[in-house]
Amino acid sequence: SASQQGDGKGAGERFSSSGFILAAIGSAVGLGNMWKFPYITGLYGGAAFFLLFIICLLVVGLPVLLAELAVGRGGRGNASTSLIRLSGNRLWGGFGFITILGAFVILSFYAVVAGWTIHYAVLSFTGKLFEHNDYAALFTGFIGGWMPLLWQFIVMFLTGFIIIRGVSAGIERFNKVLIPGLVILLLVLAVRALTLEGAGEGVSFFLRPDFSELTAESALVALGHAFFSLSLGMGAMMTYGAYVDKRQSLGLATLAIGAGDLIYAFLAGLIIFPTTFVFGLEASQGPGLVFVALPAAFSAMPLGSLFGGLFFVLLAFAALTSTVSLLEVPVAFVREAFGWSRKFSVVLLTVLCFLLGVPSALSLGNKVPALTFGGKPFFDWMDFVCSNIILPLGGLVVTLFVGYAWKGASEEAGLSPWWFRLWLFMLRYIAPILVLLVVLYSAGIITL
Ligand code: PHE
Repeated sequence: SASQQGDGKGAGERFSSSGFILAAIGSAVGLGNMWKFPYITGLYGGAAFFLLFIICLLVVGLPVLLAELAVGRGGRGNASTSLIRLSGNRLWGGFGFITILGAFVILSFYAVVAGWTIHYAVLSFTGKLFEHNDYAALFTGFIGGWMPLLWQFIVMFLTGFIIIRGVSAGIERFNKVLIPGLVILLLVLAVRALTLEGAGEGVSFFLRPDFSELTAESALVALGHAFFSLSLGMGAMMTYGAYVDKRQSLGLATLAIGAGDLIYAFLAGLIIFPTTFVFGLEASQGPGLVFVALPAAFSAMPLGSLFGGLFFVLLAFAALTSTVSLLEVPVAFVREAFGWSRKFSVVLLTVLCFLLGVPSALSLGNKVPALTFGGKPFFDWMDFVCSNIILPLGGLVVTLFVGYAWKGASEEAGLSPWWFRLWLFMLRYIAPILVLLVVLYSAGIITL
């Protein structure tokens, strides 16, 4: 029944205090930090873009993150029912459902990219990666072939395998091991990158802003990425919020998650930019950056197959802590809506999500021409619609809900009066306007 999952006091369906922070950081930290963040920083303005991203994180990201966590804990349901319970209005549940659909769709192609990283980890550890010299051709050949399907399947399988054990024995335990482990790996790799001869140029590209590099588009991309990186607008933080203890301070949790997300992005930049510049590679080459530039760099480095392997394993694990949070969103929904068991819900949704991801995996490299339309492969369409439209719209739903509709927000968030007023101001007047701009611009309704 709904109350069984929704308000169940079952210890297995609640996070411990540190477990929650680590799981939420695990959700936030993923391909967004280590694959997408470096390449969009390379494309949209280097250090100046990084600064914009930090501002978006603080001004819009953190307020919306706190809003999602508070709604989840206040409603103790999934991303749709929590909104209904808190407002008494089913319409909000329908809006919340958009975020659940978004999580499911994003997971379908996110798992494809996560799969690539496992493939590259294997290639690197076995030394096979370094038998090549044209890494761009290797990458396009690989993603255009059939292999990605296998890896995508493995990612979905592992994701289902973890969450089938439930919130505390599955999600929490997995994150508690991985998140600290990842920091250590990242630090090792950052030291390696920063001690390369000539690392300074990459560091200054990443950390010395040149504001003439910024365009209006940079600002919108930075804002969209702040949402993506903090796992907002996809129901993930609302869903995790429902498993949080009442005694936990959500304000402090928000700061910890934001700081965690930023630290991982920062370290990723400190690894990728020095390496890219030292080896004379192109920082603005787009999505291939970590798959094309880094192998070239690792191949020219002593112990490169070890460092390369570690890097891609790190990427794969970071991705898995995010896929876990994405799958939990629709799982929580179907359990509550249909009363299904966790086991059955996980198996069913894992299979369905894998199937939805198949066209994404197969659309690259033009082996199935029907999967490319309007000049974009199916994969790019999924990414575009999710990142630029569903995700900001989902964020807008939560923002407006907490800003205007929910009377109990103050009590649930537990902020001091001053912070509460600032939070509400951001949610009412700043975040909705900026987010709306992203949606309108992405949909082509306004141009800059
Ligand atoms: N935040 C994750 C990342 O940076 C992606 C994600 C988005 C996860 C939305 C959950 C929900 O990779």
